[in-house]
Amino acid sequence: MIYLDNAATTWPKPPEIQQSMIEALNLGGNAGRGGHSASVQAQRLLHQVREDLCEFLGADDPTQVIFTHNATHALNQALFGLLQPGDHVITSSLEHNAVTRPLKVLADQGVEVTEILVVPEQEFPWAEYEQAFRKNTKLVVTIHASNVTGTLLPIERIGRIARRHGAFYLLDASQTAGVFPLDLGHVPLDLLAFPGHKGLLGPQGTGGLILKPYVKLKPLLYGGTGSLSESDEQPDFLPDALESGTLNGAGIAGLGAGLRYLKAQGLDKIRYQEQTLCRRLTQGLLEIPELTLYGGTDASAKAPIVSFNIGDLDSTFVAFTLEQTAGIVARAGLHCAPHAHRTLGTMEQGVVRFSPSHFTTEEEIDRTIDAVKMVARDLA
Ligand code: ALA
Repeated sequence: MIYLDNAATTWPKPPEIQQSMIEALNLGGNAGRGGHSASVQAQRLLHQVREDLCEFLGADDPTQVIFTHNATHALNQALFGLLQPGDHVITSSLEHNAVTRPLKVLADQGVEVTEILVVPEQEFPWAEYEQAFRKNTKLVVTIHASNVTGTLLPIERIGRIARRHGAFYLLDASQTAGVFPLDLGHVPLDLLAFPGHKGLLGPQGTGGLILKPYVKLKPLLYGGTGSLSESDEQPDFLPDALESGTLNGAGIAGLGAGLRYLKAQGLDKIRYQEQTLCRRLTQGLLEIPELTLYGGTDASAKAPIVSFNIGDLDSTFVAFTLEQTAGIVARAGLHCAPHAHRTLGTMEQGVVRFSPSHFTTEEEIDRTIDAVKMVARDLA
């Protein structure tokens, strides 16, 4: 198998992820539930991963790290925790359903939503963005890199403008956490949602939300936190206020191992390898006359995603053929991001998406290019 679906979930995982998960499963305690040594050890493990995430993402305080099941959960916690009827939110046309669908529910409840048309390969529409702010604009929410084209949004300037207008900025870092250095100390972000199982190399079922200390959210879930057990009220301190129920201890241990692996390898080195592979892939694909590439050719302006179509062939059929004929694993269709596909004009056809990782080899990239050429020749 040539695995080119790292934007959906990274594979393979370094062996130390699995090892850490087994060790955590063998600990036997439930973090914060009980004063016995196994529970205390499990709590220490969670705290260590919060600290490691702070170091990795430039956050100050481990209590501002909220563990969630995935980035969708983190985004839902942020959006439903912050917005109320009468509030206004600005978003982009490149969002994933993890943002679009909660915003639809909130719009039905009376939250005003403005979607700015952001087109890959075109300048960010600064004038439209500035003009979208209203007195009641509470939040700007955007993806960091499109999961369809890899296009990076200019988040520093988006955040600065949001701040000037007194709005919070929530970033969906699903395709960038563990791929690009992200520093909450320097980028004007107020909330950051991330998955554990993509660039951070952890297992599925992990993710988180990092908040600046002044951001107050209503919980999405209420229940046991291991703290203030005598009270019917949800604790109001973090992280407990937003972390009801037993956490995914073994999964979080795996996420911690992913962070340690990334730190040891160096994000810059990984990013360089991924960019080099994407350049090679893009150049090879561009030799195919029937091929349309989406999101441009500049690998440095994108997350490691290369998306394309061959003529007017259905993208899922092309991906199926690539797997059947050459064992290439890619994601085709709409990638849970219909607004992004509407923006690209690919709602009918979808696109074939290749997303290599630093574990992908140059030889695999060359075999992939040859396979796409063959499919283009045979099917088109
Ligand atoms: N959102 C993930 C993707 O783009 C799962 O494939």
